[in-house]
Amino acid sequence: MSALLLAITGWDPAPWERRFRAAAPKRDIRLWPDRIGNPADVAYAAAWLPPHGAFGQFKNLRAIFSLGAGVDALLGDRSLPQVPVVRVIDPNLTMRMTEYVTLHVLLHHRRQRLYDAQQRERRWHEHAQPPASEVTVGIMGMGVLGRDAAAVLARIGFRVAGWSRTPKSLSGVETFHGTAGLESFLARTEILVCLLPHTPATEGILDLGGAYLVNAGRGMLQVDADILAALDEDALAGVTLDVFPTEPLPPASQLWTHPKVTITPHNSAASVPEEVVAYIVNQIERFEAGKGLQNVIDRASGY
Ligand code: NDP
Ligand code: OXD
Repeated sequence: MSALLLAITGWDPAPWERRFRAAAPKRDIRLWPDRIGNPADVAYAAAWLPPHGAFGQFKNLRAIFSLGAGVDALLGDRSLPQVPVVRVIDPNLTMRMTEYVTLHVLLHHRRQRLYDAQQRERRWHEHAQPPASEVTVGIMGMGVLGRDAAAVLARIGFRVAGWSRTPKSLSGVETFHGTAGLESFLARTEILVCLLPHTPATEGILDLGGAYLVNAGRGMLQVDADILAALDEDALAGVTLDVFPTEPLPPASQLWTHPKVTITPHNSAASVPEEVVAYIVNQIERFEAGKGLQNVIDRASGY
C-alpha cells in the first residue's frame, strides 16, 4: 500500500502519528525528516508548516492534505508539487472558531477588559452599554468560518455585515464584496472580525475600521505597529489577536503588555487530531475508490 508522509513542524507530530496509525493500521506511515524511507513509495502527505522544498523528492506524490483550514504555509512554497491540496473543513473546528469569535466580540461589546481592570482596583463603576441591536459586527471572510460566526452573532442580536471576494446572500447578514464594497463595509463596522485567509491579495489588508478588532485569520493581514499606533491614538478601543506576523509572538513585542490588547497563542480553532485524521483517512479512501477529493483549494486564488 502506498505510503503517507507526515511533515509537521510547530506542533508535536507524535499524537498525529499515533492517530494515523490507529485510524489506518494498514497504511505505511512515514515521518519527515527522519523516517522517510524510499521517497518513491510516498503517494500522500499530511502537513503543517512544512519547510519549503520538503516535497521535492516525492516524485509519486498524488495529494497533499493540510492539517488545518489554512493553506498559506503550503502555497508559500513555490516548489510545491502540482498535486491537489486539500484543506480541513470540520464541524468541530468551525464550532471552536465560532466560540472564539463570539467570546471576543462579547468581551469588547460588554467592556469586560475595563471591568477586569476595575476589579483589580476594587472599583465599582458602571460603563454605558448599548444593546447588541445597535452595534454592527463586520466579518471579513464569509467562508466556512465567517458564515457560521455570522449566524451566531446575528442570533445574539448584533447587526452583522460580511465582506468576501465574491457576492454572497445570507439571511440576516448585510453582505459586501470586492474592493468596491470594502469602504461601505468598514464604514458601518464597529467590531471588526477577520477570518480571511492569507493570500497575496489579503496581506496587510486590515486597515482598522471600527472601534474593536478581532483577528483570528492570519497574522500577515495585520501590521502590529499600526495596531499599536491606532490603540495609542484611541482610533481603536481594543483588540483581540490570535495570530501574528511572527509566531510565537516575540517576547519584546509591545502587544504583550498593552492594556487594550488580548492575546491568544494561535489557538482559536486548533486542529484536533482525532477529527482531522478521520477526515484525511476518509479522503484518501474516497480518492482510492475513484470518488475524488473534497475541499481541494484553488491555487490561483490562494485559498
Ligand atoms: P474559506 O476558504 O471557507 O473562506 C475564506 C473567505 O475569505 C471567503 O469568504 C473568501 O471569499 C474570502 N476571501 C478570500 N480572499 C479574499 C479577498 N481577496 N477579498 C475578500 N474576501 C476574500 O476559509 P475558512 O472560513 O475555512 O477559513 C478562513 C481562514 O481562517 C483560514 O484560511 C485560516 O487562515 C484562518 N483560520 C485560523 C485558525 C486559527 O486557529 N486562528 C483556524 C482555522 C482557520 P469568497 O467567499 O468570495 O471565496
Ligand atoms: C488553521 C489554523 O488554519 O489552525 O486551521 O490556523
